[in-house]
Amino acid sequence: MSRVAYVNGRYIRHAAAGVSIDDRAFLFADGIYEVIEVFDGRLIDEEGHLLRLARSAAQLRLTLPMAATALRRILRELVARNRVTDGHVYLQVTRGAAKRDHGFPKPGTPSTVVAFAHRGDRAAAEARAHAGIKVISLPDIRWKRPDIKTTSLLPNVLAKQQAKEAGAYEAWLVDADGFVTEGSSSNAWIVDSAGVLVTHPADSAILAGITRARLLKIAAARGLKIVERPFTLAEAFRAQEAFISGATTIVLPVVAIDGQNIGSGAPGAVALGLRASFHEFAPATA
Ligand code: PDD
Repeated sequence: MSRVAYVNGRYIRHAAAGVSIDDRAFLFADGIYEVIEVFDGRLIDEEGHLLRLARSAAQLRLTLPMAATALRRILRELVARNRVTDGHVYLQVTRGAAKRDHGFPKPGTPSTVVAFAHRGDRAAAEARAHAGIKVISLPDIRWKRPDIKTTSLLPNVLAKQQAKEAGAYEAWLVDADGFVTEGSSSNAWIVDSAGVLVTHPADSAILAGITRARLLKIAAARGLKIVERPFTLAEAFRAQEAFISGATTIVLPVVAIDGQNIGSGAPGAVALGLRASFHEFAPATA
C-alpha cells in the first residue's frame, strides 16, 4: 500500500507530493508544525496540538487557512488512508509561495498546508523505553523563541546529529546559566535527589510540550511532588531518575548523561510508571 499525503486540498501519493521551490518554508523555514501521536488509531491530545498550532501562527503573524475542524478532518483522513494504528501525523503550515523576499508576501498569498502520516512500531518503542536512552549535553544555541513550534530547527538538527554520533538518543540543551532547557526534540525531566519531579517552566525558553502538560496532570493525579523550575546538569547527575517526553517518544527514561549513569543506570520507576499510564489518561479522539 502506498502512503498518502495531503498538500493544499489534495490527497496524493506521498512519494509524488511536493510544494513550490518558492515556498517560504523551503526558502526561510517560515512555517509552523505539529506532530500528533496516533495510538490504537486515535489522535492523542489533538485539541492541545491544534491550539498550540494556532498560538504559533499568531506569534508569527501567519494565517491559518482553515478552521480546526477542517484540519481535524484532514488528519483523520490521513490516519484512515494510511491505515495507521500506531504512529504519528505531521501537519505543517507555511507562509505560502511567493517571489523570494525576506518581508512577508503580499496579503492574500495562500498559506501552504501539508500533512502526512507515519506508521510506528509499538514493540520497538517499548523496547527502547525499557532499555533506557543515553543523552549528551550541548549548549543551547537556539533563538530566543523556542516556545514557538517553527520548522526553523537547524540548531535542533545539529544537536540531534551530534547525539547520534556520540551513541546517544537525545541532546539536552544547556543555557548560558547552566540550566537544562529541554532536548532537541523533547522536554527534559528529572526526579531530583529529594524525589521531586522537576521540569523547566513552560516559559519562552522551551516548547510547552503537549505531552509535558499531560504528564504534569498525570503526575499530580498520582500524588507525585512536582516543581516546575530550571535544573542544572549537576543536579541531573545527582538525580534519582531522568527522562524525556514528546509526542514521538511519550516518556523515555534516561539512563546516562554524558557517559555518567543516572540513579542506578537503569530506567526509573517514576518514568516507567508515567509511561505505562499515559494512554489511560490522555484524551484520544477517533
Ligand atoms: N518535537 N521540545 C522540543 C524542542 C520539541 O521539538 C518537542 C516535540 C517537544 C515535545 O513537545 P510535544 O510533547 O508537544 O510533542 C519539546 C516533535 C515531536 C518533533 O519535532 O518531532
